[in-house]
Amino acid sequence: MKKAEPVTIVIFGASGDLTKRKLMPALLQLIMDGLLAEKTTIVGFARREKSHEQFRVEVEEALVEFARSKPEAGSGGLKAFSSCCYYQSGNYDSSKNFHDLKKLLDKLDEERGIDSDKANRLFYLSTPPNVFSGIIAMLGQTGHIADPNDKNRWTRVIVEKPFGRNLETAVDLNRSILSVLDENQVYRIDHYLGKETVQNIMAFRFGNSIFEPLWNRRYVSHVHITVAEAVCVEGRGGYYDNSGALRDMVQNHMLQLLSLIAMEPPASFAPNAVRNEKVKLLSAIPPIKSNEVNEYSIRGQYAAGTINGKLIPDYLRESGVQSNSVTETFVALKLHVDNWRWAGVPFYLRTGKALTKRLTEVNIEFRQPPLALFSHIKNDEDERERGRMKPNMLSLRVQPNEGIRLSIGMKVPGPKMILEPKDMEFCYENVFKVEPPGAYERLILDAILGDTTLFIRQDEVEAAWTLVNGILEGWASEELPHIHLYRAGTWGPYAADEFITNDVRRTGAL
Ligand code: BG6
Repeated sequence: MKKAEPVTIVIFGASGDLTKRKLMPALLQLIMDGLLAEKTTIVGFARREKSHEQFRVEVEEALVEFARSKPEAGSGGLKAFSSCCYYQSGNYDSSKNFHDLKKLLDKLDEERGIDSDKANRLFYLSTPPNVFSGIIAMLGQTGHIADPNDKNRWTRVIVEKPFGRNLETAVDLNRSILSVLDENQVYRIDHYLGKETVQNIMAFRFGNSIFEPLWNRRYVSHVHITVAEAVCVEGRGGYYDNSGALRDMVQNHMLQLLSLIAMEPPASFAPNAVRNEKVKLLSAIPPIKSNEVNEYSIRGQYAAGTINGKLIPDYLRESGVQSNSVTETFVALKLHVDNWRWAGVPFYLRTGKALTKRLTEVNIEFRQPPLALFSHIKNDEDERERGRMKPNMLSLRVQPNEGIRLSIGMKVPGPKMILEPKDMEFCYENVFKVEPPGAYERLILDAILGDTTLFIRQDEVEAAWTLVNGILEGWASEELPHIHLYRAGTWGPYAADEFITNDVRRTGAL
């Protein structure tokens, strides 16, 4: 593995939740695992005035609460980590403050004996999205960005989500970012790609020879991708109400899952080889037009209910949510991939908040065998459909209980030829007996190593927005929004189950 070079990591939005919950814990873990260079320095930048010392205290508190290794308050490891942390207050549009930041970074380099022409920088934009382009413009104007062709030092910028709120704003954002940075300096993050089990989709498909021959329209009847969350909006009502499930989960995480499941094998595992295939796949999906929106999608919003014994209020009562909001907290979609491999195979995507439980899973349902040889099938759910076995199903479980399950028909022991569907299961935890690294650990390390494979390229983010743009427009144009209420703690609106079940029947995909 490549060795990480010394770098100064600047986090914009250093007082935010993401910094506390994910970024600082990931950096601590990387340092504890010896994966970062010794002279690595972290600088928080945010509006509020505070000293380096105050920032360090906050960082330590956050790590005690959120770090994977559960460090004790005041422990040596925590102190060592926080002593590498510094703070700069400033406004995101103040060139003076960006010059101040530059002075601080130069001073820190000097103290560490790093020549200014060898000083690497990783800027992490963990701020509200409305300041992304302003920050990048300021970085450009105040001399923070190295020439992309400079072989001695590098500058990279991680851009958090949401990357735009529709196709137009994403294109604008790309344009303003790329007027300052080269595409190779931009790391658009989607934390789903940092999850071990998401990366394992590629390993599973392209590192084994037995599945790929079946991975096509001849053997697969349809695919379900489900990202169910039991959490609600968790204090983010203001953001969420302006976003909704389609923007928050589908445009990014779910389309990434879909691309990895359906893309062609890349020619190599080089960043652009993989990203080319993902873009090709997304471009093969016909975007849903605004006037077809109700044929291809169902949206829902949760109403009061109970999850794990806890009473959940109506979405409309969450703080930050408009009392007449029609923002969807659930969405189900049907997509097609119009290419040689997948023509005619429906892909059903489903995601929602306040559902029964947390579950991210891809289910690949295979076609029935050509002949129903066995007339006695013990299949409780489909007792009436004698002779038809439950189709084979391969489930890739991304979270929780990460693993893989293959459901196959087995002979029930005894004198008669009776079949029953049974599962072959593989569970990561039991097999590898290690806790997988967190998604942000992997992605921050990759950015430091200069590996863009698991980051989203400009054309990829625009291809993903192209797919959901028509749905957003269609929904926005409805005078009477078709939004289905569902009770918190259920699997979503009944209409979504009906939509998918009927579609599977109608298309004969069963
Ligand atoms: C984020 C969304 O990108 O992903 C959240 O903004 C969502 O609304 C989260 O809860 C889900 O991530 P994970 O890793 O918990 O599945």
